[in-house]
Amino acid sequence: MKNFLFLKSSVLQQYSVSNQLIDEAFADVQGNKELISLDELNIPELSVANFAKLNDETSAERAFQKEQIAKLKEKQVVVIGAPMYNFSTSVQLKKYIDLISKAGETFNYTENGPVGYLKAEHLVIVTSRGGAYHENGIDFFEQYLKMSFGFLGVKNIHFIYAEKMAYGDEVKNQSINQARKDLKELLASF
Ligand SMILES: Cc1cc2nc3c(=O)[nH]c(=O)nc-3n(C[C@H](O)[C@H](O)[C@H](O)COP(=O)(O)O)c2cc1C
Repeated sequence: MKNFLFLKSSVLQQYSVSNQLIDEAFADVQGNKELISLDELNIPELSVANFAKLNDETSAERAFQKEQIAKLKEKQVVVIGAPMYNFSTSVQLKKYIDLISKAGETFNYTENGPVGYLKAEHLVIVTSRGGAYHENGIDFFEQYLKMSFGFLGVKNIHFIYAEKMAYGDEVKNQSINQARKDLKELLASF
């Protein structure tokens, strides 16, 4: 039995495509599983004040950071809903990446360069967007996510695309159905 962590990061509530795909996959998958909505996690943003707190071993923010890193590190499969907003990530997912990217805990620089400490066997990114980027070779957001989690040590990063959400209902539904099928097959293969 695999240990799964599912993270949602859309702001569109019941209208969110990525939330819908993540909810369905969470319900479907067999194994130990946990589902978190990053918006509800109330992650501190990386402000001047919070940065100081995150470097204070006695603060509640630091305790929260340790808890989230520990949770992430124990999971074998991590599935993240990643809607594209303004060509990039939701604030919620950015705050999460800022939170869990901690020197000495999820990465370090060594004489031989950076080393990541995340041991997840698979990371699956379910990314929804109004337009088409992946097939056009202009997917900056995909590169950002690959870099962020690759740097932290994740070797197998898979992408499920729900693109063309703004191309009308027919194209949208076709794309969601394909993404749903791809996600189900991928998770079943682990
Ligand atoms: C604030 C906002 C910004 C968006 N920016 C982009 C964008 O830059 N490129 C794009 O293709 N679609 C953009 N969209 C469309 C979303 O990517 C699309 O609605 C997608 O389904 C979002 O994922 P979600 O439904 O899980 O929230 C944007 C939507 C919102 C609400």
